[in-house]
Amino acid sequence: MKKKFVSVTLALALGLSLAACGNNGGGNASADTDKKEETQEPATDKDADTDSEDTGSTGDTANKDKPLVWFNRQPSNSSTGELDTAALNFNANTYYVGFDANQGAELQGTMVKEYIEAHIDEIDRNGDGTIGYVLAIGDIGHNDSIARTRGVRKALGTAVEKDGNINSDPAGTNTDGTATMVQDGEIEVGGKKYVVRELASQEMKNSAGATWDAATAGNAIGTWSSSFGEQIDVVVSNNDGMGMSMFNAWSKDNKVPTFGYDANSDAVAAIAEGYGGTISQHADVQAYLTLRVLRNALDGVDIDTGIGTADEAGNVLTDDVYVYREEERSYYALNVAVTADNYQDFTDSTKIYEPVSKQLDEGSHATKKVWLNIYNASDNFLSSTYQPLLQNYDDILNLEVEYIGGDGQTESNITNRLGNPGQYDAFAINMVKTDNAASYTSLLSQ
Ligand code: BGC
Repeated sequence: MKKKFVSVTLALALGLSLAACGNNGGGNASADTDKKEETQEPATDKDADTDSEDTGSTGDTANKDKPLVWFNRQPSNSSTGELDTAALNFNANTYYVGFDANQGAELQGTMVKEYIEAHIDEIDRNGDGTIGYVLAIGDIGHNDSIARTRGVRKALGTAVEKDGNINSDPAGTNTDGTATMVQDGEIEVGGKKYVVRELASQEMKNSAGATWDAATAGNAIGTWSSSFGEQIDVVVSNNDGMGMSMFNAWSKDNKVPTFGYDANSDAVAAIAEGYGGTISQHADVQAYLTLRVLRNALDGVDIDTGIGTADEAGNVLTDDVYVYREEERSYYALNVAVTADNYQDFTDSTKIYEPVSKQLDEGSHATKKVWLNIYNASDNFLSSTYQPLLQNYDDILNLEVEYIGGDGQTESNITNRLGNPGQYDAFAINMVKTDNAASYTSLLSQ
């Protein structure tokens, strides 16, 4: 999985001067191992020396050649899910950091199913033989949200196919079981069969356009419960922000197990009060990777340093917590189910991951400036879990990060604050819409 520190031959062929953003001191700069790619060479040795003494200035590196990491929202077509390979290969130091959406989705579905089976004697609240659930959908154009909807429908037997995949469209209201996006499933426990029905599902988007909207989910459970509350036996949500909003508004008082995703601290704590469970997407590993790939690119060392290969401080990740897919230029953290059985181990979602908690030396890893945005400053997961983690790791990695919080609705609200990319050494981007990578790369290409 080792990767050379490279730059694209084409850029060199075009005669663009690629100033080094790091030195080649790691001994990993070999020129002709790959036909398509070439080792990033400093323009001259003199430049390399200057750069290694650099203490945070951006030097002569063109913005388009600076390290770039996309995170949390993978550049992709929001209708088809197809990856935006141009954005993922914007330059030789471009990566995506997220988590394995399919593995997590399957875990979430299985967690819900196993809970139903284990609590079959009390779960069917009105005793009608049908286990009814409602589903809060985060963003119908976001890969992670789509995967989670599919995972739950697959596990509960309510999935139907559309174009060779599980249909992830919201079902609207389906109390009579006639919706075409889903079907009634069946669960058999102890020789007894139960129907499983998705009573209702909806994208939780507010009128201003913000997706994964917790307040909208709180309102939705109010509407659903007032018209068919006695049929709702389980509440499922694409994330904890919406899940907790529904739990607090209705399901906690009505003792209806509610399942989310993210393992935010408040959701984990709520497991003691009846929240059914959540999934940790290992944000502690993702936040580290987000900044670590930038650090490595800036240092001009092998990208695997402090990831699959221990750095000099001893930071290293094991392959049970992440995977790297070179062809997708993407790092994916692996997920873990958090339930009544193990939640005590997950009570603080902002705690750094111990195997990668060691401080880097300022001497060999001079402070660098990073521009980083959170697409929606009020997103529960990003603001209460991911950003605090980033803020813990930025110190360890000697990165001076400027955090920009977006409104969750318009890309321009964020790109307006990328007016002077020349002031930064590297960029970490969390788009509003996964199709919009060019809104950022065009600014860096100017
Ligand atoms: C999280 C959601 C969050 C979304 C933002 C997802 O991975 O699970 O909670 O709202 O990212 O893009």
